[in-house]
Formats: sequence, structure tokens, C-alpha cells
Amino acid sequence: MGQHRDILVTSALPYANAPLHIGHLVEYTYTDVWVRFQRMQGHRCHYVCASDAHGTPTMLAAEAAGITPEELVAEIAASHQSDFARFRISVDNYLTTHSAENEELTAEVYRRLLKAGHIHRRTIQQAYDEQKQMFLPDRYVRGECPICGTADQYGDACENCSATYTPMELKNPVSVISGTTPSVKESEHLFFRLGDFEEELRSWVPQHIDEALARKLDEWFQAGLRDWDISRDSPYFGFEIPGESGKYFYVWFDAPIGYMASFLNLCRRLDLSFEQFWDADSTTELYHFIGKDIVYFHTLFWPSVLSGAGYRKPSGIFVHGFLTVDGLKMSKSRGTFILATTYAKYLEPDCLRYYFAAKLGPTADDIDLNMDDFAARVNSDLVGKFVNIGSRCAGFIHRLNAGRLADQLPDEALFAVFAAAADEIAADYEARNYARAIRRIMALADKANQYIDDQKPWLKAKNPEQNDAVVGIATLGLNLFRTLMIYLKPVIPGVAERAEIFLAIAPLTWTDAQKPLLGSGIEHFKSLLERVDRERIEAMTQEAHSPV
Ligand code: 2FM
Ligand code: ZN
Repeated sequence: MGQHRDILVTSALPYANAPLHIGHLVEYTYTDVWVRFQRMQGHRCHYVCASDAHGTPTMLAAEAAGITPEELVAEIAASHQSDFARFRISVDNYLTTHSAENEELTAEVYRRLLKAGHIHRRTIQQAYDEQKQMFLPDRYVRGECPICGTADQYGDACENCSATYTPMELKNPVSVISGTTPSVKESEHLFFRLGDFEEELRSWVPQHIDEALARKLDEWFQAGLRDWDISRDSPYFGFEIPGESGKYFYVWFDAPIGYMASFLNLCRRLDLSFEQFWDADSTTELYHFIGKDIVYFHTLFWPSVLSGAGYRKPSGIFVHGFLTVDGLKMSKSRGTFILATTYAKYLEPDCLRYYFAAKLGPTADDIDLNMDDFAARVNSDLVGKFVNIGSRCAGFIHRLNAGRLADQLPDEALFAVFAAAADEIAADYEARNYARAIRRIMALADKANQYIDDQKPWLKAKNPEQNDAVVGIATLGLNLFRTLMIYLKPVIPGVAERAEIFLAIAPLTWTDAQKPLLGSGIEHFKSLLERVDRERIEAMTQEAHSPV
């Protein structure tokens, strides 16, 4: 095994105004598989997340619900956290960005940027809702596209002709909040000078992101790095900007600082060193897992903010694509907008983790969930090929050897073939090529089943003289099962826990694949995973269609 590593990992922070759906779970699975893999390697890998609390949508959603934004955030964050637990997303800490730690760090980052001269002020014109007495974010103004005339377009871009513009340019603009015609009002805003970091970013970006995305970013460099507006006027749910009155930090300014805040909270709880991970000269690794829609924030703004404030920059930004269901965007009317809680009510979370992992690779390609394929894949791979090995072998050990494994393997070479795959499977996980890791693991599962089919222990078991041979075959079969379990453990941790109980062993680590389990007692085999049943999928889709 390589050198010990100190790693800090994050997933993008989900907005605190809505519950998690299966699209979110693509990201958490993508992250969690990697984190669990690193921990199995013996590395120190902290994984933190939080709910993204601030902004206009949270403020308005709370108002509509007749509660305070703080109450809404607490409620939704609690639901996010219990979904994380259900799907076995192994975060070490889950905070919200509306926390003391985040307020403290956001103020500190801002103070440092200000001191270094990266913040300046400028007066801008913005759409204003006179009735509601608030400035309107671009998405809260709708009207006709100034270019092609298509009706009912957002204030920032046209869905028909893709033109981009400001809300003031829309024809017949309407405030989404009050339905009135917005006026135009001036206000002084604070801007972060992204351009100060152009040279630094030009060399940093291509080394820290997938090639295809780096090319996309090149277009952004060509277009020029524009100053970034980091302030919002009252009323706004956020942190007030120190030294200003009635001005708040824009949600996207304090959101990534939430990564640091969640880690700071963890450090205080566990007495870890925050500085070790965030100082400019840190030798630790920092990775952000995100979706492809927020690449700009994480590869341009965020590293610049960190650098400008004297912190370290990320070691890598790992980007995944979107989830489609049956080839289409998730949709409530088709019953494909499935909440995490709805899924978990009907089906085992490990099955979805497995399906996603089997489709995830190092690039940001979209992945598709097809329910028939999902059922077929889980039933044939996990239940049919993998779990089945355990159930085929366990009975012989109990019946013929009082529940004790044999002291040696009848075919050490076969065990060695399985053990030898550890390095290439590890390399796949490390490179986030989970799809390839799973293809290799399933090819080994075929080999294990082939061995049992060839040996026919059920026939040999009819002859008492062959008892030892049968116990040997079953012992090898269970050892192959155990090796497969090690390789699959980052993906299906719930099954792994049950398998560890069945084999009566301590939590499996990656190096365990090199040494067989011999001479020890095992428990009776209990189902480790149920088949995915069509009826349950139907029931889940029904509920997604018309939530209860
Ligand atoms: O796009 C989103 O869902 C944001 N809430 C992600 C924030 S990630 C980070 F920067 F905080
Ligand atoms: Zn248009």
C-alpha cells in the first residue's frame, strides 16, 4: 500500500428549501464510494457537507410556509441529514451554512479579500418590486425575450433562442412575486475582482479538472473573467456584510465557505487541526465533488477567493453529469421525480448506490436510470451472482463442519487470482472509474460461480466420504465471496455490514483480500439483499406521481 494520505472531501451543499431527490443521490454516491474506498485503504479521509441555507428562494419559501427562514432551514436540514443516514452517505459532519462557524469564516475571508484589495464597489441598476419592496433576482422577473419575442422567459436567458440579457431588457416584464411591473432602481454593490486571478487560474484550472471541462473553461477565459457581484440588498436571508448597512453576502459567496465551516465545526468537536487542511502551505488533499452545472463557481470563483484570502486551493474538482430517468429529465407528471425518502420506503438504498456506481466514471457524462434495467441489473449481478455464492456455500459449513470453515483452501491458485485483482480495482476506484471496477468485480463473481458449478458440492455431499472435500469447496467459495465483498464494500456498505456479521469478522479493509479466512466459525446465512421486485417499483412510481 502507498503512503498515508490526509484527505478532506466535500459534496455540493444541497439547498435548504427542498428535500433530496434521487438526482442528488448520484452526487452523494459518487462522493461516498470514493471516501469509503480511501478509508478502507487506511487513509484519513474526512467527508463534510452542509445544507445551503441562504438566498431569496429560502426566504420566500419560509414566508409562504408561515415560518422563519431559520425554522425552515432547520427542518429541511434535518431531513437532508436523515436521508444521508438512510443512503449510508458517510459524512463526518453535516452543518448548515447558517451557522456561527460559517458566519465567522465568511467574515474572515471577506476581511482578507478587502485588505488585499480584491473587493470594489460599483452602483448598478436592478429590477425592483415596488409592492414587495425588494430587489428582484434575475429568475424572479419574467417577460418576452427581447431578441425572438418568446413569451414568459426568465430575466437572464431565453429558453427558445438561448440569448442572454438582463431583466431590464425583457419586454413587458413582470415580477414573479407580486405580478406587478418591476421598476428599475439603483444600488451600490460589492464586487470581487475575478480578473486579478486570471493568470493563476489559467495554469491552475487545466491541472485540476477533467480535460473536456477544461476546454469548456477555456471558452470562459476567452469571454473574459468579469467581476463578481457578492452583495445583495435587504430584505435577504443571509449574513450581513461587516461594515455595511442593509447589505448581505450573496448566497454563492458564503456557500463554498460552508465547506470550511462544516470542517471547522468537526475540528472543534474532534480536536482536529483546521489549519493543517486550509493553510496556504497545506500538504493535505482537498477534493470537491460537484455537478456539472456549478463548475464555474468551483473552478473560477472558489479557487480565486481561497487564493485571494491566503488559503490553499483544492487538489481536484470532481464533476459528474445529470441524472435522467428513462432518458428524460425527472418529471413529477411521469412519476420519475423520486424523493430520496420515497425510494427508501420501497427499495434498499444499496441497490441504487450499486446501479449508480455501475454507471459512474471519471467524466461528467449524464447517467440514466431505467427501472427495468435497474431491476435486472441488481437482481442478476448483486443477488444472482454475488449474494448467491454465500447462500450456496454456507449450508455445507453448518451441516458438515458445525459452522466452522476449513483450515486450508483446496485451490489456493484460485484465491490468489482474486487477491491479485486488488490493485487494478483499487486503481479504478481511485480514478473514480467505478463502472470499470464493477465490471472487473462481476467478472470475478462469474469465475466464483463457475468454480462451484464445476465442483458440484451438492452432489459430493451425498457421499459422507467426501465431507472434507465439500467443506473445502464451500470454504473456498465463501472466501471468494468475502474477497468480492471487500471490493464491493465502498458501493454497498449495508450489505457489507450484514456480510461481516454472517462471516463473524471485523470490518473488512482492502488488505484483507490478501489473506484467506480459515478455521473460524460463521453464522447461519440470512438474506443479505432482497431481489428488486417490480411491484415495489410500481408502488414507488405511484407515490412519486402523487406524493402522500
Ligand atoms: O447548486 C446547488 O445546489 C448549490 N446549493 C450548491 C452549493 S455548493 C457549495 F458551493 F456550497
Ligand atoms: Zn429568445
